Amino acid sequence: MARGKKARAEGEDLEFFARCASGFEQVLAGELRRLRMRRVRPLRGGAAFFGTLEDGYRACLWLRSATRVQLVLTRVAATDADELYRAVKAYAWERQVRGGATIAVDAHGENDALRNSKFTALKVKDALCDRLREQLDWRPDVDPHDPDFAVNVALHREKATIYLNLSGASLHRRGYRADGVQTEAPLKETLAAGLLLAAGWPDLAREGGVLVDPMCGSGTLAIEGALMAADIAPGLLRERWGFEGWLGHDPALWRQVREAAAARGAVEGCGALILASDLDAQAIAIARDNATRSGVVRLVRFSVDDAARLGRHLRGKRIAHAPGGLLVANPPYGQRLLSKDELPKVNETLRAAVEALPAGWSTALITPDAGVDTALGMVPDELISCYNGPIKAWVRIYRHGAAERQTCEVVSLAGVRRSVPIAEATSEQFAARLRKVARESARWARRSQVSCLRVYDADLPDYALSVDLYLADKAADGYAVVEERRRPGSVDELRATHRFADAVALAGVVLDVPVDHVIGRPWQAEAERRPAGASARRMVSAREDGNRFEIDLEGRPDTGLPLALRGVREQVGALSKRARYLGLFAASAATAVHAARGGARRTTTVCSYPDRIEWAEHVLADNGFSDTKHICVCEDVRDWVSERRKAGSSFDLIACTPPAWLPAQRQGQTDFELRRDHVELICQVAGLLARGGTLVFAFEDKEFKLDEKALLKAGLTVEDARVQTLAHGFERRANEHHCYLVRRA
Ligand SMILES: C[S@@+](CC[C@H](N)C(=O)[O-])C[C@H]1O[C@@H](n2cnc3c(N)ncnc32)[C@H](O)[C@@H]1O
Repeated sequence: MARGKKARAEGEDLEFFARCASGFEQVLAGELRRLRMRRVRPLRGGAAFFGTLEDGYRACLWLRSATRVQLVLTRVAATDADELYRAVKAYAWERQVRGGATIAVDAHGENDALRNSKFTALKVKDALCDRLREQLDWRPDVDPHDPDFAVNVALHREKATIYLNLSGASLHRRGYRADGVQTEAPLKETLAAGLLLAAGWPDLAREGGVLVDPMCGSGTLAIEGALMAADIAPGLLRERWGFEGWLGHDPALWRQVREAAAARGAVEGCGALILASDLDAQAIAIARDNATRSGVVRLVRFSVDDAARLGRHLRGKRIAHAPGGLLVANPPYGQRLLSKDELPKVNETLRAAVEALPAGWSTALITPDAGVDTALGMVPDELISCYNGPIKAWVRIYRHGAAERQTCEVVSLAGVRRSVPIAEATSEQFAARLRKVARESARWARRSQVSCLRVYDADLPDYALSVDLYLADKAADGYAVVEERRRPGSVDELRATHRFADAVALAGVVLDVPVDHVIGRPWQAEAERRPAGASARRMVSAREDGNRFEIDLEGRPDTGLPLALRGVREQVGALSKRARYLGLFAASAATAVHAARGGARRTTTVCSYPDRIEWAEHVLADNGFSDTKHICVCEDVRDWVSERRKAGSSFDLIACTPPAWLPAQRQGQTDFELRRDHVELICQVAGLLARGGTLVFAFEDKEFKLDEKALLKAGLTVEDARVQTLAHGFERRANEHHCYLVRRA
């Protein structure tokens, strides 16, 4: 077999692209600069740089946050598949691929003509193989899993960049994990390294600082931290590289680079201290093995313990005299590990751990839980939005002594003056606005005998959140719930996070609510929220028009007393004299209590959640309506209505407050979508109305449009009651509020 010429000339300036997890581009660029690479440019998903072959080898061996190092081989025109094929075939692959090497090609990106990256990769592979067959009379075998020579193709508009994957298998495979022996949900080594670099651990380690991971699992953060502290190249244990099937590879130079790296790192004389613990003894055994294989076990103190007891491990002179420290953690997310109900407990544990830290230490967490700031009472100085596997998460860094916090002078509703640290200057305006609206609303609440009220509703566009206040007899027993609206993608995440944290802190002070009674709910994607029926509860007592309700501030889909529907409950109370009342989709019996108080002869409450029905019975009894005239039924509402229609039941007043969507409950039933199916539901329910009866149909939905024509056609009249039932404090959401009084024509 004929051999091609050498792939590159000595000292040639080569162009590289190092890939990393998205969000860590700046961190990677920082690493490249410290490695003295030239023309470093962070780009989406990685960083470009220039250097010699030796630099390329050093990048493979030393980069900690990179997942791959690629060498640019060529750039070709790729308007369509034929052009791409021709251009790739014209490239001198015989000077690149070692004879006998196995190959693989992958591609990403698309253009108008090349929409399928698998097809793009296939075209490039065919061109490469055809070229080698023509030139060398040899066709390489394809090995997609462990090739000797891997080509990466990046398609962008009409151009394709063809890279050699210089590093080979993903660089997170350091080689210190034993095959098949793992803990659940280990962090990728490159992600762990990215977190530590972003948090400034290498500098702290150099000064002799302390690193602590109290939920260390398989020890990834601790081991990566130790490798950094001891200046050990993360790639030293790797046995296979992507350049082995490349003719440009220079084994002597590689040996030199490796030997230089091996001579440099040393555990001996390293001044840093690393503590790693976990509740799970088996995880600690695995972590210790991993640390042994990576050669840093002497730097890490492992222990089996609860993170809440971290304080016990932070005593002693060594730590007291350390120049500083960093707590890192990758807590369970309530997704792969634990159920969501246990998240508050995890946050409590983290809080205890953070509170045990000596003054001046920093903290860095990787978690999908944006509520962790409120739980820890801390404001992050840096946020990196990233993915941990398939899970959207953030690295949240709370740096000691970052920017000096400004303070804002606040006078509470009760007249107490306090100075509150804030992260954003504009939060002062939020505090002023909240105070003004809350003062007026509190006066209204006293007059109306209401103890639960909305006191702020996205009045300032930059503070798009709501604040609900739950007053108690003693101010210190009150609660506030601060809930963020959806964040538009254009909003700077760190600023939005700062504003939200400020709002939570200021709401407590302005409303005279103790810190631990302020519930902060930053915006989270629907998929990340706690599901309905989860068990963590925060029960408080609320008053409304002389009625008393035990409600759950953590309740889903609502607390049991949706404040937005207060006007609807009043309307029901006003219409209920001597009525036989029916409440459908009643999350609690709050509306039934209003009906009973308004003089209803009988009330029936129907809901499909057993715990909600139990609660509804309790709420009715609590208000003195516990006799047989007031019943609660746990059944699927749609099934119950059709059965009652068959049985000929009728009611004088029906309140129906449906959810926006309901899954099918059994075979033969379809999903329910309010916007699509409301006419059918209203017609079904109206079939239970007695002569002269009224159906109050109410809910919150911005996009909803009532199909009045279809209802008229079905013999029903509709009275629009949106204005008179709009709740106090919800004026800005008038377009979301819907309430219709439906009667038989
Ligand atoms: C997501 S895993 C950490 C994974 C780790 N970063 C790794 O790379 O393997 C979370 C860990 O927290 C531990 N954990 C949960 N609650 C704990 C507690 N109260 N104290 C200590 N460890 C805890 C679990 O045992 C689990 O190992």
